[in-house]
Amino acid sequence: MKVLLLGSGGREHALAWKIAQSAKVEKLFIAPGNAGTQNVGENVDIKADDFEALKNFVVENGVDMVIVGPEDPLVKGVYDDFKNDERTKNVPVIGPSKAGAVLEGSKDFAKQFMKRHNIPTAKYETFDGTTVEEGLKFLETLKAPYVLKADGLCAGKGVLILPTLEEAKKEFKEMLGGMFGNASARVVIEEFLSGIECSVFALTDGKNYKILPEAKDYKRIGEHDTGLNTGGMGSVSPVPFATKEWMQKVEDRIIRPTVEGLAEENIEYKGFIFFGLINVEGEPMVIEYNCRMGDPETETVMLRLKSDIVDLFEGVAEGNLDKRDIEFDERAAVCVMLVSGGYPQTYAKGYEITGLDKVEDSVVFHAGTKMQNGKVVTNGGRVIAVSSYGKDKSEALQNSFTQAQKIEFTDKYFRRDIGLDL
Ligand code: AMP
Ligand code: GLY
Repeated sequence: MKVLLLGSGGREHALAWKIAQSAKVEKLFIAPGNAGTQNVGENVDIKADDFEALKNFVVENGVDMVIVGPEDPLVKGVYDDFKNDERTKNVPVIGPSKAGAVLEGSKDFAKQFMKRHNIPTAKYETFDGTTVEEGLKFLETLKAPYVLKADGLCAGKGVLILPTLEEAKKEFKEMLGGMFGNASARVVIEEFLSGIECSVFALTDGKNYKILPEAKDYKRIGEHDTGLNTGGMGSVSPVPFATKEWMQKVEDRIIRPTVEGLAEENIEYKGFIFFGLINVEGEPMVIEYNCRMGDPETETVMLRLKSDIVDLFEGVAEGNLDKRDIEFDERAAVCVMLVSGGYPQTYAKGYEITGLDKVEDSVVFHAGTKMQNGKVVTNGGRVIAVSSYGKDKSEALQNSFTQAQKIEFTDKYFRRDIGLDL
């Protein structure tokens, strides 16, 4: 079959790498892709949210299935757009409908959904410009630190955690005043939860689901989780505290109620659900939902998925995911992200990347790269993910670390402590 994958980051290179291994796939296109995805498929110069151009491409090239990497096209309704077009209505899109993507697109919706279905999450209230005073009063009932969340999508920047009531009140008013534009026209204030985070992923056909290997990502730029937040500096899978018993709680209290809740509410959902969880004294609670896979978690999760991912996607499309097998690799996987010096603040682009051909035994996923005059150059803050197997996480980290040193570009930086806190 012919498959089209949407997106251009490290997550998409990892998905493309896995899809390309499927015996079912005769041709893989990636729109728009990056300098790495062209090694496992054919890049197509169409933006992931240009639905008209994507549909034309699908029709003209006889594409049999579309897989969506990032949230943006999902929140904009790519699933519905394909379905409502006579020409593409029979081409399965792996990803939720616009109504399903609201689980990520609106924090308030996600919290209400969890409340309706009794899914464990932090206590919260939502406020807008007409309820500022009530919001300030609600803050006074909580203990420090204070968690403020812009309701809408903010490219990962919409959550503020403030140490004092004074700062929380000030930022709350600023958020409602337009700090994140329309995305913060409504603000969720919630109770702070203390614990270690873990990302759990399920693939669902709307009725059945399969749970993928869990992972933990590392968001801060500095070692030992210091400094500014980034799009992700690395990931590790498996996560030691996600034992069989803990995962059973996750399935019983969170995953199954979510899939059943979506079905009950007639929300079409055929794709990945990302459960951003926190382990509060042994009990899993939901911090957030995303309507897609995680980045950089996918760069380790794909290494640990042994089964044919396209077979699973077919199960999603046909509604018979329960008939498909899912198998994991027992080894550990660690991903180390090589980033541009200065990131997540200002950094330069366009530096040549060398040494990629010297990497052995690790898998290199491109995150922010492009081809320029026949050379691979840096094209983003997060540049290259180096993912490795190991008998345990220390060995996997050591392997990624060794290979990461062979890849060179000006002002390269990476964390050396991925997975070591666990
Ligand atoms: P989100 O965009 O919802 O993933 O939030 C970003 C980050 O803020 C999360 O990964 C957590 O580290 C942190 N966070 C969000 N909500 C809470 C909460 N209720 N308690 C503690 N930390 C939180
Ligand atoms: N790694 C977190 C995310 O993809 O949102």
